[in-house]
Amino acid sequence: TAQATGPTTHHHTVTVAHRGASAYAPENTLAAVDAADDLGIDWVENDVQRTRDGELIVMHDTTLSRTTDVEQVFPDRAPWKISDFTLDEIEKLDAGSWFGPDFQGEAVPTLEEYMDRVSDNHQKLLLELKAPELYPGIERQTLRELRREGWLDHRHKRRLIVQSFSADSVRTVHRLRPDVKTGFLGTPAVADLPEYAEFSDQINPSYTTIDAGYVSAVRSVDGAHGKPLEVYTWTVNDGPTAVSVAGMGVNGIITNKPDVIRDALDDA
Ligand code: G3P
Ligand code: CA
Repeated sequence: TAQATGPTTHHHTVTVAHRGASAYAPENTLAAVDAADDLGIDWVENDVQRTRDGELIVMHDTTLSRTTDVEQVFPDRAPWKISDFTLDEIEKLDAGSWFGPDFQGEAVPTLEEYMDRVSDNHQKLLLELKAPELYPGIERQTLRELRREGWLDHRHKRRLIVQSFSADSVRTVHRLRPDVKTGFLGTPAVADLPEYAEFSDQINPSYTTIDAGYVSAVRSVDGAHGKPLEVYTWTVNDGPTAVSVAGMGVNGIITNKPDVIRDALDDA
């Protein structure tokens, strides 16, 4: 009988492009979403925050300085906090040149623009609520926007995970929309896992904080939706570390170099 031919996958570890494929394009821009897509990576991670006039945008730091030219454009506006700028002002900024001349003029995306691009590319979104304590009500607002864009429809829900370092924020998301898959960013003590499992489906720790025993302890607790808690670990940018954490049993690896990680897992 004929043997099945073609590529074989020896693992079930999801590869997530951290802030997009951020080793190859400026983090948290549409170019970084597309860079992941070009590599055939379907999961992207981003960070969501809020402008002074209440618009949701995608950026990691709570200030605009590192990833835009804000200090040139608005020299008198130190300390350049996102929450001190309107969307109109933020749209004037260049969020690409700091990374490289090829990306000059790349904009800071709104969450809506970002989700549209992820949808157009048929990708999936690991959405982080970043520093939510600075933005009261951002959980409800984000869910409202996700719903309006169809991301909470039954057939799309599998394409979305909402995570945060703030347990309060993850708990709020779960309370408002118990149907949305959630993750807690951090490494809770094993004894505390059942408490986190009341509102999370994932525990997402730094790879520097885990070993096989910890991953197995997490995976033995049922999460908010009755399935074993998953572990997506970050930020792994080299093949040997990826193979090592995959061997510990993690479900996902969040990486700036998703091609390197996928290839290493495929070859393992
Ligand atoms: O998704 C995990 C990772 O993004 C958490 O750290 O600082 O890159 O948001 P950070
Ligand atoms: Ca993040």
